[in-house]
Amino acid sequence: MRSVIDICDLSVAEIEKLISTANDIIENPKKYSEKCHGKKLATLFFEPSTRTRLSFEAAMYELGGNVLSMADAGSSSASKGESVADTAKMISCYADIMAMRHHKEGAPLVASTNATIPVINAGDGGHNHPTQTLADLLTIKREKGRFDNLTVGLCGDLKFGRTVHSLINALSRYTNIKFVLISPEELRIPGYVKKDVILKNGLKYVETTELDAVLPELDVLYMTRVQRERFFNEDDYLRLKDSYVLTPEKLKLAKEDLCIMHPLPRVNEISVRVDDDPRACYFKQALNGKYMRMALILMLLGEL
Ligand code: NCD
Repeated sequence: MRSVIDICDLSVAEIEKLISTANDIIENPKKYSEKCHGKKLATLFFEPSTRTRLSFEAAMYELGGNVLSMADAGSSSASKGESVADTAKMISCYADIMAMRHHKEGAPLVASTNATIPVINAGDGGHNHPTQTLADLLTIKREKGRFDNLTVGLCGDLKFGRTVHSLINALSRYTNIKFVLISPEELRIPGYVKKDVILKNGLKYVETTELDAVLPELDVLYMTRVQRERFFNEDDYLRLKDSYVLTPEKLKLAKEDLCIMHPLPRVNEISVRVDDDPRACYFKQALNGKYMRMALILMLLGEL
């Protein structure tokens, strides 16, 4: 059974296929409106979510399918002590495909080895978030027209930000990408991402604490929220949370065709005064997530 737990579970060719399908859905939504008729998507979210869960559900509805939703872990049998493995076996009896978000790294992988239906990782702890990366890739493709020859700034909480880990993995497969990793010292990219992805693939990168100094060279700027829920100590969070705030004044330093991204939710990292800047792509990015999730559901259900 085909599942997507890590973005590299999808080949570069499959990602191309998902992007071309998503673009076709955008152009011809009617063509897809009955493709999943009679099929059910289960959404199991053991951690808070707005965009990811609702965009998965909207995706399935727009494909003509149905949704079984477990939005509140407190109301599920997990609160009685049921294992992820057992939950996955049960859900396989009721649905055709499932999307799972969990606070524990690796939980969706465990689900996928026990389920008899495809499992999609909708975010596991501070680890990975492959479908956010699909949204990010469609956004980069639509805005910049390419994945090669880009200087990509990743800014904020690079340690706990799972979207950043998956995006680095995805972009590492293209040519002449340079990563500019901007974070406070305490929130640098984890050693395993640096060693297993950046260094292993010989990618160009710099690490810095200064956003202003590097802003002029960036083609893409991916801002992230400091992940409060993953901190052990509230004082550390309070000290680090406003390390970077993107404002229209700062953006005067940036390229005219910079693509400003954020997986959302935003807390304070991007001033609302940036929202009207034509370079602000984060709300488009959230919409793109729905189209890429539609394409992914189609692929995993054998409809592509
Ligand atoms: C992200 C997540 O859950 O990791 N949100 C999302 O899915 N769009 C980013 C975040 O919570 O900061």
